[in-house]
Amino acid sequence: MPLDPQRFTGDLHMLRSFGASGVGRGVVRQAYSDADFVARQWLAQRMKDAGLEPHFDPLGNLFGLAGEKSLLVGSHSDSQPEGGWLDGALGVVAGLEIARAAKEDGGPPISCVSFQDEEGRFGVLTGSDVWTCKLALAEADGFIDTQGNTLADMRAQMTDLAGDFLPHDRFSGFLEMHIEQGPYLEETGVKLGVVTDIVGIRDMRITFVGRQNHAGTTPMHLRRDTFQALSAFNTALNSRFANAVTPATVWTIGHVALHPNASSVVPGRVEFSVQWRDADAVRLARMETLIKEIAQEIAADHSVASEFGPVMGLEPAAMDARFQAELGAAAETLAPGMWQKMPSGALHDAANLATVMPAAMLFVPSIGGISHAFDEDTAEADLVLGLQVLDRAARALAV
Ligand code: GLV
Ligand code: MN
Ligand code: MN
Repeated sequence: MPLDPQRFTGDLHMLRSFGASGVGRGVVRQAYSDADFVARQWLAQRMKDAGLEPHFDPLGNLFGLAGEKSLLVGSHSDSQPEGGWLDGALGVVAGLEIARAAKEDGGPPISCVSFQDEEGRFGVLTGSDVWTCKLALAEADGFIDTQGNTLADMRAQMTDLAGDFLPHDRFSGFLEMHIEQGPYLEETGVKLGVVTDIVGIRDMRITFVGRQNHAGTTPMHLRRDTFQALSAFNTALNSRFANAVTPATVWTIGHVALHPNASSVVPGRVEFSVQWRDADAVRLARMETLIKEIAQEIAADHSVASEFGPVMGLEPAAMDARFQAELGAAAETLAPGMWQKMPSGALHDAANLATVMPAAMLFVPSIGGISHAFDEDTAEADLVLGLQVLDRAARALAV
């Protein structure tokens, strides 16, 4: 049977049912949560039903294998703490449908994959970081999430399923379809984006340690207030970055844990994340130096101590030229004049895969440019067009 758009959208809706939450088509399915385990088991069964061999590796990356050597198509099926139904899931279900259709109509061998913890509950792109040997499993095992769980404890819950890590040379290349997660395709009315490069990222945790004390009796001049330090740090960062960044550079303080987080207590401790992204590795390094300098200056000004966690990250990655050309040719055939080349400001497993095999990505529009939120969405006709273009390119590249 050729590609079946209804089976594809049906599977997407079914995958959403594991962890369905919030408004619209929201999903809560963080890596290693119960919803994630059940979703992976359902995916493994769908792979089996399609004649693909399901294979979990020690991290929980799930492959649906075809043939001895094959093209790999997929993405991730874990979500952010509050995520949408398409971030990652779209690429996984597209990979499943393309691999299944190729199997059914005697096409070239195509395997599919759902990587684990792309959303960085523990690291940055933990599943593909470990599989591509960027990160040692023993090091990843020591990573701790914001609730204090270690990765080792979480993955121990699924070790009965796990086989070995697969050799990379089992695959001839990697294709990933994803929602854009930004506004550009919608703004320009273009339906498809062929990704040229994926930006680099750095992510670290900073802690300010001051003095917890009574909010009514402690005079302002004697306080060592870590919230005040964080607030001053943020203001200084925004102003000092002005001379160091480009309009495309982004930075975010997205997680803050204030202790003890009570209205009558001067907060004695704050731990927060700082994440920054840019296409230029030299600029990323300069920003790291600035962040540390500013944090130390502010800490001194507020009589608090500063501590820095490890800097995690990923280098900017260029997509493979031949794979990009094949995606562009497929887009031009099925949607003439309705596609463009573009960089990705979001991270993707394809950035890791590009270090071990040719890799490329296809984007479809995001309504309102919204993602990492419950109301993330894309018109179903755009999802199906993306599937058809990806399939055409996959068939050409898999021979
Ligand atoms: C991945 O989801 C990212 O944060 O870009
Ligand atoms: Mn994603
Ligand atoms: Mn994401």
